[in-house]
Parts: sequence; C-alpha cells; structure tokens
Amino acid sequence: MKNIDSISHVSGKSVYVDDIPVLDNTLYALIVPATIAHGVLKKIEYTGDHSDFVRMITASDIPGENQIGSIIPDEELLSSQDIHFMGQAIAIIVAKSLNSAYMIRDEVHVEYDEYKAITDPRVAFNSGNIIGESRKFQCGDIVWADCDTIVSDRVDMGGQEHLYLETHGSYVIPTERGYKVISSTQSPSSVQKMIARVLGISMHLVEVDVNRLGGGFGGKEDQATPIACMAALAVNITDRPVKLILDRIDDLKMTGKRHPYSADYKIGMKSNKIIAYDVIFYQNAGASADLSPAVLERTLFHATNSYYIPNFKATAYSCRTNLPPNTAFRGFGGPQGMFVIEAAIDKLAEKSGIPAYVLQEANLMKNGDKFPYGQITDNLMLTDAWSKIKTIKNVYEEEIEQFNHNNKYFSKGMAIMPITFGISFTNTMMNQGSALVNIYQDGSIGLSTGAVEMGQGVNTRILQALISSFGVSADRVKMETTNTTRAINTSPSAASSTHDLNGWATLDACNQLIRRLEKLLIDEYQAGSVEFINNRVIFNDRSLSWDELIQFAFTKRVDLAAHGYYCTPDIYFDKEKEKGHPFAYYTTGVAIQMATVDIIRGTYKLDKIDIIHDSGRVMNSNLDRGQIEGALAQGLGWMLLEDLQYDDNGRLLSNALSTYKIPDINFMPDIKIEFIGANNPLGLMGSKSIGEPPLMYGIAGYFAVRNAMRNHKNIDMAYKTPLTPERILMGLFS
Ligand code: MTE
Ligand code: HPA
Ligand code: MOS
Repeated sequence: MKNIDSISHVSGKSVYVDDIPVLDNTLYALIVPATIAHGVLKKIEYTGDHSDFVRMITASDIPGENQIGSIIPDEELLSSQDIHFMGQAIAIIVAKSLNSAYMIRDEVHVEYDEYKAITDPRVAFNSGNIIGESRKFQCGDIVWADCDTIVSDRVDMGGQEHLYLETHGSYVIPTERGYKVISSTQSPSSVQKMIARVLGISMHLVEVDVNRLGGGFGGKEDQATPIACMAALAVNITDRPVKLILDRIDDLKMTGKRHPYSADYKIGMKSNKIIAYDVIFYQNAGASADLSPAVLERTLFHATNSYYIPNFKATAYSCRTNLPPNTAFRGFGGPQGMFVIEAAIDKLAEKSGIPAYVLQEANLMKNGDKFPYGQITDNLMLTDAWSKIKTIKNVYEEEIEQFNHNNKYFSKGMAIMPITFGISFTNTMMNQGSALVNIYQDGSIGLSTGAVEMGQGVNTRILQALISSFGVSADRVKMETTNTTRAINTSPSAASSTHDLNGWATLDACNQLIRRLEKLLIDEYQAGSVEFINNRVIFNDRSLSWDELIQFAFTKRVDLAAHGYYCTPDIYFDKEKEKGHPFAYYTTGVAIQMATVDIIRGTYKLDKIDIIHDSGRVMNSNLDRGQIEGALAQGLGWMLLEDLQYDDNGRLLSNALSTYKIPDINFMPDIKIEFIGANNPLGLMGSKSIGEPPLMYGIAGYFAVRNAMRNHKNIDMAYKTPLTPERILMGLFS
C-alpha cells in the first residue's frame, strides 16, 4: 500500500496547523525570548502604544502552576525570575495581527543581571550541576590484567537540530466546554495534561486535536507542550482564539536538540574477544530535565551496541548547562551510546593491527546472549545480515584497493555498522495504545487511535492492519485525527512503537467487532466458519457483502463501535538493580559504507551504502524503504555535516540554514537495501519497528571517512563529531 497521504502531500492539500482557516476574532501570539543564557530577570515592560497591542503575559498571569517539567519538575513555562538559557520564554505578546506582534515584540524592554554561562557538560559536571541521579549499568568483573590489548580515549559527539519542515505551532479556541487545542505535537495527552496544570483546571476541559505533523523526529515529543500551553494561557486571559506559530529563526533559537555527549572509555580484549569495557557518559542536557533522564537511560541500554561484552561498566551523568533543554531525537540517546563503542573498537583495531570488522564479527551478539541489563536476545538476524555483508565487503575491498593504488590525491575507505535497537519505551508504563473503531450503518468505517501521523506512515500501517482484519478495501475507512476525546491517556507517538501499540489496539477492537458479527451470523443463520474477505463475509454456502452485513447487524441492534486496547506483554525493568527485560524485541541489521576523501581539500563523497535490514515480515516495503533512507540521511548528517555551534555565552551561532547544513540528495550515497527477517510475533502483522533504528547506520559514514583518511596516511585525530571537511583537513595535516 502506498502512503495514504502521498496524493494530498504532493498536491498541497495536506493540512498543517498554520493552514487551518482561523476564526474572525483570532489573536496572534509571539514568545519574548531571553537574550542572555544565565541570570536574573530584573524588569520587563512594554510602554509602546501600538493600536494592535492586546496583552503582554508574564509568569504572574498564570492561574495554575508555572511548571511544565514532565519527568522532573524543574522547568517554568514563563520565567518568574531566573534565566537558564538564551531563548527561554519570559513573556508572551498577544496582538491583533502577526505583523504587529513582531513590531511590538521588538519594543519590549527587558533588564537582566547576567551571570556566566556554562555550555560544556564536563564543566557542568565538575561544578556539580547534575540533573537527577547518575545511572550505572554493570555486569561481570572487569579485570584489566586478563586483557592483552587495552586502549582508552575520549569521545565527543555534537548535537543535532530536528529541522522538521513544519515548525512548532498551536491554535487554541475557547469553546463553551473549555478549550479546543490544535497542536503540532507527538503527544496530545501531554499537551492536555500540562494545559490543565498551567491553567489550574481539569483535563476533561481540554480537547487536543492533531491532524498530522510536518515531521517531529522526537522534537515534538515534549517540546510542543509549552507552545500549546502558552497559546492556551493567552486564550484563558483574552477569551479569544489565539494562534502561536514559531517562525524558523525562533524555532531554531528556542527549542532543544539532540544531546551532545562527551565520554571517556577504556576497553580491553584478549585475542579477538572484548572482555572488558568501562565507559562514562556526560550528557549535555541543557537547562532543564525535559526527557534527558530517559534519553540517558537509553544511552546505557545501547552502550554495547550489537556486541556481547561479558564484563562491563557504564556510568552516565545528565549535566545541566545553559543551553535550551535538549530533548528526544530519533534514536533517543541510543546513537550516542553506539558511537562510543564503535570508536573504541576502531581504536582497538588501530592498536592491535586487527581490522575493525574482524573485531566486530568476533564479538557480535548471537541469539541467546545476554545484554548487561539482563535481557536475553532472540529473533536477532545479526549473524545472517553479517554474512551477507561479508560478501559485499569483499567487492568493496577490491574496488578500494584498486582505486587507492591508482590515485594519489583521493583515498577511499569503508566501514561496517551493525545495529541492535530495543523496541519499546524504556519506561514500561508508557507501552500502551488504544483505538476506537466505529462502523457506520452503511458499512463505512471511522478509525481513531492514539497514533500521531508525522510522515512515518503510521496511519497507513494501522489502516493495513484494519483492512486485513475486516477484509474490506481501504476506501471504506477514514483515518480520523488523533483526538484526546476519542483516544485518551495516550503515550507519545515515539520510541518507534506507535504502530505496534496502536495497531495492536486497533486489531483488538476489530476482533471484538468480528466476534459480535460472527455471533449474529451464528444466531441468525447457524453459520459454521465465517470468513471476511474482499468486502464480503462468507459463511456456510453463501455470502453477504460487508455493507449488507453491517446494515443487517444494525437492524438487529448489534453494537458497531469498539474500543481496543493493547499493552506490551512481559516487559519490565527494575531500576534499583538496573536489570530486566525492557524491550518487546530488537530491530537489527548491518550496513557497509564506502567513502572517498579528497586529500587536498578535505572534502569527501559518500559513494555507496549496502544495508541488510531485519524488518521481520515486511508489512510495507515502500514505507520501510522511506524510513531507512530518511533515518540514514539524519544519521549521516549528524555524524558528518550538521555542526551546531554555540558561543561561550550560550548563543546559538548556527542559527539559520545558511550556517547549519543538513543533508541533501547530492550528499547521500547510493543506497541499496535488502530485507531479511522472520515473522515477529510481537510486531504488527509480524513486522519489526523501523522508525529510529536505521539512523544508526549513519555511524558507518564517520568511520568510512576516517578509514579513507587512514588508507592515505596514519592519522592521530580526536574522535569528535561531526567530521566536517575542516576537521578532516586538520586531521590530515596535523
Ligand atoms: N519519519 C518521518 N517522516 N517523520 C518523523 O517525524 N519520526 C521518527 C520516525 N520516523 C519521524 C519519522 C521517530 S523519532 C520515531 S520515534 C518514529 O518515526 C515514530 O513513529 P513509529 O513509532 O510509528 O515508528
Ligand atoms: N523512547 C522514546 N521516547 C521516550 C522513551 C523512549 O524509550 N521513553 C520516554 N519517552
Ligand atoms: Mo522518537 S525520538 O522516539 O520521537
């Protein structure tokens, strides 16, 4: 099935928040951002007389709690006094037109006492600025004396801007019954809960509706919430509809990004086997917790990537700095954990003279191996994928040798990257989904779930599940918006789990309806076996069309609506012991990347990548390919291109697309994808989740470039991302 949004996307008919026609009396809001990164707010005032000025709203206008921290209550909606990052909201300007709002905002007068800003996580750590508790995952006993090769080093990874095409935005309308909130959020229920908290009202007075997002990538899991809260606050105060959309500059400046990390490790092996790994992660959380503690946890889960390491210790600290609060981003801390172990293996390879792929292969996880946190693997396709990649590697190797032999100023290299990504929210409680299936009396169907469509194609997948259950064609079904009155207490659409959780819930609702319809056929016609197929129901030696069946069921007073629910079975995690079985299953695969470095200029070309990916039983190969290509682009961009720069005062320097480069079609390698995989009983229709895992194939890009440099000459270059042409040049000539 094609993505059901494809026609409306290319014809421009897809509706986003800013496309919704506004009511006549709508007001426009803008956020007044702090212009220092650390200090105290002394004074804020607007003394102008613009005729379109309606209100300036500050912390003291908040009727409920001025608190939006979701894991740790450490984040004000509007600063009451303390400033923790540049771009922090200190007031909201409400005006009769958007243009006027901009002019008024320019004239707001703010005075501060400014303090020194901290932007580096290690500096924050050393001055005791830690968020929450440190975490430690551990297994076995590290005995360095048992190792024959030991290396240690420091690794630094940059952050990453989400750059969803649709910026943050919300349109809130006062209604007779409370608030109707249209939000570009991955988490409608979080928006509902926080608006209720900020306004001091109950959740049932807040209805949140999401049509679709122009991309979220994790950036709208938590951080859409304050935008919607501010719009709702303005509605509460003015009693008029309020629209608040961030322009690109504001969005880049005010919102958090992927967490930069710094890490120290020591790793040891005996012949080919890694027998000891000790690593410390310093996460740059930014100014408040946001989702950082959960991201930190996933870094630990993925600190050994796809390798079995019997003796292991990983310690992680979330460090509070004066940057915008960093947040969820595709991979959710996993990529950072994986990059460090790959860097460690790279260095082991360099020191021992054994090629990295030999070490990777020798330590690859097998079914039945145990992760340091206790989960035993099964249904991994790693070794199958690896053996296919090995064949491709021989071809790559030959091409590289020949090329390097014939070229003096260009050098080719390659790298292999296996991935093993745990599927489920690491917070067990969040693994629940729900659906509401309504069959109208003419046989047409309305389907509501907790899933938010953000381009990943979740609506298409869930629709596929429903039509395979009812045996009806897709045009009989309307995918409704995600709405908190139809799907309640939803988890964010995240953790690559959206279609599993809400798809299984949909199937639960479908099964209830099918049982009711079967009972009707048994009661009325003594039906034996009943089959739903091709818009018909077949029983005994006769059949009815689906529509006839439904009309008949309606006249016989059969309930034609069902609520479905799903929660992932058998998962748990004990945070005291840091052990458990947190994931439903793992998505795995292996990629091999080739790159060519221009030795004179430091530029590079990503030649090609071959990916052997385990998607279980593929349920939609179009969508799966789209997810792999998109995630890979983001992974390669994070590793090689996207250079977030802040100055020492916490000011974002890469604050526009002229200074922040993202991947484009020319940057991307030729991509070949082969799917392998077996039926996955815990995945929707036997598939495996694919939203985040392929991002980590991008890590191969870093090492392919590094190996291309190394094939030219010995290098002594810090493990620091992104590996931009400037860093490559300095690496080659140092
Ligand atoms: N694909 C598109 N086109 N747009 C997005 O915003 N988000 C990614 C991934 N793929 C995203 C995307 C992230 S971060 C996640 S967690 C998953 O989709 C969420 O959807 P799923 O749970 O249905 O896989
Ligand atoms: N992944 C993504 N989002 C989340 C998670 C997770 O594991 N936990 C909480 N939010
Ligand atoms: Mo995805 S980072 O879990 O929204």
